[in-house]
Amino acid sequence: MKQTELLAIIEKMSPKEKVDQLLQLAADFYTDNAEDRTGPMDNLNINETTIDNAGSILGVSGAQKAIDIQKNYIENNPHNLPTILMADIIHGFRTIFPIPLALGCTWNTDAVEEMASISALESSVSGLHLTFSPMLDLVRDPRWGRVLESTGEDPYLNSVYAKSMVKGYQGDNLKEDVTKVAACVKHFAAYGGAIGGRDYNTVDVSETTLREKYLPSYQAAIDAGAKLVMTAFNTIEGVPASGNKKLFRDVLRDEFEFKGPVISDWAAIKEMINHGVAANEKDAARLAIEAGVDIEMMTTCYDKHLLELIDEDAKYMDLLDEAVLRILELKNDLGLFENPYRGADPVKEKEVILSESHRESAREIAEKSMVLLENKEILPLDKTAKIAVFGPKATTGDLMGAWSWQGKFDEVITIAEGLVSKGEHVSVSTTNYDLFENTAESLVDAKELATTNDVVVLALGEADWMSGEAASRSDIKLPQSQIELFKIVRSVAKKVVVVLVNGRPLDLTDISEADAILEAWFPGTEGGNAVANILFGDVNPSGRLSMSFPENVGQVPVYYNTENTGRPYEAAPEEKYVSKYLDVSNYAKYPFGYGLSYSSVSYDNLALDKEIGEIEDTIKVTVTVTNQSDRLTTETIQVYTRDLVGETARPLKELKAFKQVELAANETKEVVIELETKKLAYVHQDLSWAVDAGEFNLMVGPNSRELKLAKSFSLR
Ligand code: IFM
Repeated sequence: MKQTELLAIIEKMSPKEKVDQLLQLAADFYTDNAEDRTGPMDNLNINETTIDNAGSILGVSGAQKAIDIQKNYIENNPHNLPTILMADIIHGFRTIFPIPLALGCTWNTDAVEEMASISALESSVSGLHLTFSPMLDLVRDPRWGRVLESTGEDPYLNSVYAKSMVKGYQGDNLKEDVTKVAACVKHFAAYGGAIGGRDYNTVDVSETTLREKYLPSYQAAIDAGAKLVMTAFNTIEGVPASGNKKLFRDVLRDEFEFKGPVISDWAAIKEMINHGVAANEKDAARLAIEAGVDIEMMTTCYDKHLLELIDEDAKYMDLLDEAVLRILELKNDLGLFENPYRGADPVKEKEVILSESHRESAREIAEKSMVLLENKEILPLDKTAKIAVFGPKATTGDLMGAWSWQGKFDEVITIAEGLVSKGEHVSVSTTNYDLFENTAESLVDAKELATTNDVVVLALGEADWMSGEAASRSDIKLPQSQIELFKIVRSVAKKVVVVLVNGRPLDLTDISEADAILEAWFPGTEGGNAVANILFGDVNPSGRLSMSFPENVGQVPVYYNTENTGRPYEAAPEEKYVSKYLDVSNYAKYPFGYGLSYSSVSYDNLALDKEIGEIEDTIKVTVTVTNQSDRLTTETIQVYTRDLVGETARPLKELKAFKQVELAANETKEVVIELETKKLAYVHQDLSWAVDAGEFNLMVGPNSRELKLAKSFSLR
């Protein structure tokens, strides 16, 4: 449909019909078996006509259901408009992939794109048109449960993933390609900065930090063509995002040139009353529409009050028309006027969802995402060894994590099942191991298994509800009972391998005596097979952390790209008057970029093709890497820079490029990585992005701490 045709429809719509387009209601209003609620249910007090005409629906799935809803909607709508079916497909639809924080640890954009592409396919055959993903909030505080949904702490890495996800979800021709769904960037902006890691809490970041650290990943997704943007729950400079004109009109629309609609998060418009910036619902509606928020999710400030506002001032009619046009354009971009059912197909649904090839892909991606944190010469395990596997995460299907509403526990390969399928002598305990309580029976069982086997694989971690939305924790250790279980097992077992299933970096002090620790995250449907392949060495682990693990919660936030203070720690950590703690180092326990494999890779011969470059230039970085082991390995070569003298204090290191290479046994490769100098730009005091002339250090290594080689260059 052409824009003139959309405008002609709008011309014919009554003001109330237009207002209805701005409302998004949850599945509860349309089906008897709403599957998952993702926010508080308020009594919205709306009539049937409003329900029938609300412009979009959240959280419905199932091809036949989607077809029926769409058919009914079009028939009831006075202009036969189609609705849009949206949902949170965050790391897989029915085939569940690792959580986004784990995807962040793959450092593999193809894998992330593949996850998004399969998620789109399964969602689209099930009738969905749009996913509320990617979530691009930069995260530094593991107390926040939603770190699970982010790809991590680095603006550059997050931006790279942002593009891959949008590409995977939307493809190149969203209108025609019904195997794709539209992507929604969220949560604009800086929701990850919630003070103290407490969900929905205030965010207080400087404008330079906001622009330099938080905004780039959202912008990357918008540049990649994402179709919708969701507001954040938090305030920025005291103004709730959902009524923040500066954020939405000035930054999102004028600077980032985003043309699509903006949707509020669930009830976030009405919540401006709680924030104390709106006196009532009408005031909240005014602030939101003025800020350019087009769709109101699950509250009715617009529905109840926009017409009143229009009666008082005609400018609100223009704002309403603007919003309706953007919503109809989204429907049009999805091809819904011509093909309102898009990919919904009850037959294909059965073939495609959770297919063998999707499972295989989920397994491979899970393998890439797991991070080997410790290995005291125990892994890989000998397949003939006598192994016992137990612990609260050993035999459970609770390996999917938050936002896997379509995933089913009984479709998940458990860790025990994975190990049994690979090892020759694996005993699985039939005793129940609880997440929060050890029973006399489980302790007896643990001791017995630990003493009668060569190796214990102890599966510990969080329940799915312990991370995700509304799941902040002040204590980021394993539950006390699991620490106790570990200690008992450690005291009697020959070797203990801990497999962790969790949604956030944890304080792992209490299990530091494990012989090996594999961070499996919430690995998804094929988690157990992926764990087994890594533990038995069929796959060489390659995951690298995209978020630092603190030594303890008191260090939080701990992240790698810190600036120097006037009294730097690095040069003289033993000095008294330097910026430090008395009781813990400044360093993360496991830093950004860190992860072990079963191979040792050496780095040599760092060379730059130029020592003096121009402000706009490309520097070729060459390094030789050698696999010193006799097995295939995947190495992620990380390039960091430091701007030695900036207009503002610059981070000691910032990731600017990386390359993942496969190295056959004992293979040496010369690897060239291009560093575009535009990546050295940062936000200056006048808020402009610019690259400084002057000297830079460039460091290369396997993680942000062990930077093995360094060179300098300057720009003029
Ligand atoms: O998309 C989510 C958002 O991330 C948190 N609140 C609810 C929305 C819709 O489910």
